[in-house]
Amino acid sequence: PSARTFYAEVGGEPVFRALVAHFYAGVRSDPVLSPLYPQDDWDGAEERLRRFLEQYWGGPTTYSEQRGHPRLRMRHAPFAIGERERDAWLALMRAAVDSLGLTAEQDATLWGYLEMAARSMQNRWDDP
Ligand code: HEM
Repeated sequence: PSARTFYAEVGGEPVFRALVAHFYAGVRSDPVLSPLYPQDDWDGAEERLRRFLEQYWGGPTTYSEQRGHPRLRMRHAPFAIGERERDAWLALMRAAVDSLGLTAEQDATLWGYLEMAARSMQNRWDDP
């Protein structure tokens, strides 16, 4: 039997749904981030991020079944992500994580990953 996954430990799909719902509610009305996203497919974008995060943390592998290998840096290449975009993304994600009521240890695990991942998604360094 495999060890209990982080996905299961924090509460599974409902928790990831709550995370991305909170996050995307912020993104949709954010002046820096909103223009980057597909304005006619907000629900799809929300589902892609949720499925990716669920898979990353040991939940269902639906993301890769639908999207293939994540290759997230490549998939973000079309979007200009400078320090401003990265920090806006992280600020909204921080508020979304805060809304979950995780334990301090769970919070540190999830947040450590998200901060690292957001840094690795930056692909512009010439912001004013
Ligand atoms: C997709 C922006 C960081 C995971 C997208 C999309 C945009 C975007 C505009 C396209 C929306 C869609 O149609 O799915 C950003 C910005 C970031 C950032 C501005 C700031 C650093 C991250 C991070 C992760 C992530 C840190 C993972 C932890 C994803 C995933 C998709 C996606 C899984 C869908 C990929 C696909 O299957 O097509 N992102 N992103 N993003 N992002 Fe990000």
